[in-house]
Amino acid sequence: MSSVHTQMSATANTPSRYERAQRAAEQIRSRANARPSVAIVLGSGLGAFADELTESTSLAYKEIAGFAQATVEGHAGRLVIGRAGEVPIAAMQGRFHFYEGYSLEDVTFPIRVLKLLGVRTLILTNAAGSLNTEFTPGSLMVISDHINLMGVNPLIGTNDERFGPRFPDLTSTYDPDLQSMVIEEATAMNIDMRRGVYAALTGPSYETPAEIHMVRTLGADAVGMSTVPEAIVARHMDMQVIGISCITNLAAGVSNRPVDHSQVIATGERVRAQFTELLRRVIAKLG
Ligand code: HPA
Repeated sequence: MSSVHTQMSATANTPSRYERAQRAAEQIRSRANARPSVAIVLGSGLGAFADELTESTSLAYKEIAGFAQATVEGHAGRLVIGRAGEVPIAAMQGRFHFYEGYSLEDVTFPIRVLKLLGVRTLILTNAAGSLNTEFTPGSLMVISDHINLMGVNPLIGTNDERFGPRFPDLTSTYDPDLQSMVIEEATAMNIDMRRGVYAALTGPSYETPAEIHMVRTLGADAVGMSTVPEAIVARHMDMQVIGISCITNLAAGVSNRPVDHSQVIATGERVRAQFTELLRRVIAKLG
């Protein structure tokens, strides 16, 4: 008990993460009129979706108090608040990755802010390598579950009950009804849509074939370097989560070609129009 008090008084003048998230949410509210109930994190190559929002206001991450700055190629680094059809939405054009050197607290801080802005449903998108030769580059995968192989958890540290419980349940991290809804919408569009388990490693190097063999043995279908910290933090705050991966390449050793970052980007671009249309439909259903 006394050590807890010592810790709290030592940090009495430093705003808590909750207060910092509240400040950022206030700042965003003062700039944008829409009150988003849905948010989307746009992975590599998908950022253009945010340019289609109407009545939009965009804020560079570097303008938002408490946000870190995106450094990765293909990530614009801004938050766009607007409407997709009728639905008020917040779109993150680019995300923060652990491999860029950010702490997982920085990586997931925007998700905290989105929750305080009133967002109830979070759509996480990413590019992923396939461990399953049936999931070919260009196909989409709705995430059914994840395996955290990053070796860290974004909830490590003091827990703030205002966000959520110390030991949150992750039994249905990716909302089962929403998974079915995404599959229905994709099927209506004739999309090659799969459902599978996403494993997250830190990157930034792609995996070795032996690592991919291990990850496949563990039960994953796809592998990537994002999404899992954000999903954990979103569930901590009881948000509904949808995860959709764009399969951009076969993972190391699954084919005999090396993994090439330019293929990851090019495949993302090839399916972008289809992926964007799917997102529009999914968001319309959420509204
Ligand atoms: N491995 C890890 N992350 C990725 C991959 C991959 O093969 N493709 C796209 N993101």
